[in-house]
Amino acid sequence: MEKVLLKNVGKPDSHRIDTYLAGGGYEALKKALRMDTEDIIQMVKDSGLMGRGGAGFPTGLKWSFIPKDPTLQKYLCCNADEGEPGTFKDRSIIEHDPHLLLEGMAISCYAIGADTAYIYIRGEFAFGARRLEEAIAEAYQKGYLGKDILGSGFSLNIHVHRGFGAYICGEETALLESIEGCRGQPRKKPPFPALSGLYGKPTVINNVETLACVPTIISRGAEWFASIGPEKSPGPKIFGVSGHVNRPGLYELPMGTPLREIVYEHAGGIRNGRRLKAVIPGGVSAPLLTEEQIDISMDFDTLAHEGSMLGSGGVIVMDDTTCMVKAAYIINRFFSHESCGKCTPCREGTTWMTSILKRLEYGEGRPGDVELLEGLCGNIFGRTFCPLGDGAVMALRGALRNFRQEFVYHAENGRCMV
Ligand SMILES: Cc1cc2nc3c(=O)[nH]c(=O)nc-3n(C[C@H](O)[C@H](O)[C@H](O)COP(=O)(O)O)c2cc1C
Repeated sequence: MEKVLLKNVGKPDSHRIDTYLAGGGYEALKKALRMDTEDIIQMVKDSGLMGRGGAGFPTGLKWSFIPKDPTLQKYLCCNADEGEPGTFKDRSIIEHDPHLLLEGMAISCYAIGADTAYIYIRGEFAFGARRLEEAIAEAYQKGYLGKDILGSGFSLNIHVHRGFGAYICGEETALLESIEGCRGQPRKKPPFPALSGLYGKPTVINNVETLACVPTIISRGAEWFASIGPEKSPGPKIFGVSGHVNRPGLYELPMGTPLREIVYEHAGGIRNGRRLKAVIPGGVSAPLLTEEQIDISMDFDTLAHEGSMLGSGGVIVMDDTTCMVKAAYIINRFFSHESCGKCTPCREGTTWMTSILKRLEYGEGRPGDVELLEGLCGNIFGRTFCPLGDGAVMALRGALRNFRQEFVYHAENGRCMV
């Protein structure tokens, strides 16, 4: 497939505006500025673009929820927090093709009537934040940002807001709290951000990759985008492959590419000729799949149907040397560390899960620990304030469902089966 999202990555000075313009950059913005804003939203709807941040919500529909009242202040927030372990796709766009993101943001702001946008970037991405600042300065200088863009009457300012390194700040309402200078904790929904978001104003929050799809939809048309991959969740998708493969990295492929093809063809198969044991298909919250399950189409619907999820598309591959108890412990430790503490089931539940997994891993497990873990999962899932706690449960349930005997073995024998 012809690359759309990563096409400039690897070109010399790919982050510079001149490189971007030489490849037809900002032409989509020019076209969009001549269009009716409703037509742009309809086009994004028709393209079938689903948000690439994890939840897979239809982007055009989200934009259409923004009130049309021109006197209301509106905001766009680009979610560049990229906190899900195993996910490293947005960073590549930010560092190597920042103008693709800025153009997508400008079109989105024009469509929803926002004159101010924020890029909430993960605090650790210092280089990326600098690249964005430089790109924004270039865009102002050439008239693609600022007042009366290209004489259209549309004005836009984009600000970079650096986060402080908390996974929860990637959750859209915690992100808004953080931009407002408050502690990053999720808000109660409803009201949804489309009606009351940043500073209580209508706000769209979209992921970096989602916004980076927008210029191509405008320039090539909704039909072209919709023709790539499965009908229900089409378009190009960046899969980030890490773990025990020969060629870890980012692969831009059609949505719906089989997981087996991603692992064995693009990522070069399992390292040292070993056997595949399990794959996490969409960042650590996504329940893992076993070797027998990887002939699966990597798209939102199919993975959900199979009891997992596409999430952010971060594919983590584990070979047969992996102890599932250790993997579950490490993943769970992350969730309990990152639990924001706002709600009890997540704060206490993930802490308990981690301490049980820790004693299993260190040979101090007790009879009944596996049942205790399963009971805890049931007490957390669906009872937390935001999906962070659900993510912790889904990850553990995936491991327990497929490798329960390893957990039992650890509890009974104090060591690994592998
Ligand atoms: C705990 C948690 C962390 C999240 N982290 C991110 C993140 O780092 N980046 C992201 O784009 N979305 C993240 N999300 C999803 C966002 O809440 C939101 O759905 C997304 O930014 C919407 O953009 P999209 O519609 O373009 O996917 C996270 C959600 C949760 C519950």
